[in-house]
Amino acid sequence: MLIRDARFLTSNTRVELCPAPILPEYAFIGRSNVGKSSLINMLVSRQGLAKTSASPGKTQLINHFLINENWYLVDLPGYGYAKVSKVARAEWGRMINYYLRKRENLACVCVLIDSRHPPQAVDLDFMEKLGVEGIPFVIIFTKADKQSAAQTRELISSYLRKLSESWDELPRHFLTSSETGQGREEVLAFIDDVNRQWAQADANA
Ligand code: GTP
Ligand code: MG
Repeated sequence: MLIRDARFLTSNTRVELCPAPILPEYAFIGRSNVGKSSLINMLVSRQGLAKTSASPGKTQLINHFLINENWYLVDLPGYGYAKVSKVARAEWGRMINYYLRKRENLACVCVLIDSRHPPQAVDLDFMEKLGVEGIPFVIIFTKADKQSAAQTRELISSYLRKLSESWDELPRHFLTSSETGQGREEVLAFIDDVNRQWAQADANA
């Protein structure tokens, strides 16, 4: 998919204030610092569109971007950031759970996982919850450039083995690097596919 246009629309904490739910939406979520904002910039080829930072906790609101005038990308705050107070974490949890449950045009949640790390309970629990709620999601492994291709392959296989302990069917997954652009075409092709299914379903409605 060619990205002709990408622009920031809104930042807020409430689903009711998000842009009209008339276009398919892709929400990027995952641990703080996993590379959500960087991946959004890499996918749309606009450095600085989504704010990134070396220190975790940069993204704190639900940020909407409009792409090619026909789909939304959403940058969400990271979870599992230890330096945030319990109260703030609970608030984050409420905001995100509400968003995930109520956002009617949510086409797919993209759960970002750092390709260097072994499976962590916070991510596994989050995916479990998406499964229970019936919210469609894919996994996007990030920062593939941080180790050799062989190491990445081994880490991802062991991650998928862990997932297959609790999932009959594994979620679709992608391997990316915001540094090298790896995985860009695959993720955009996937989004393009889902967008087409949406347009088809709309035409049939
Ligand atoms: P929060 O908004 O704080 O939750 O973080 P985030 O998930 O949006 O992460 P962000 O995109 O801000 O990136 C965090 C740090 O990781 C930054 O220093 C990025 O430059 C770095 N980073 C992100 N993606 C990659 C990648 O693919 N490769 C490498 N080498 N560094 C990356
Ligand atoms: Mg961010």
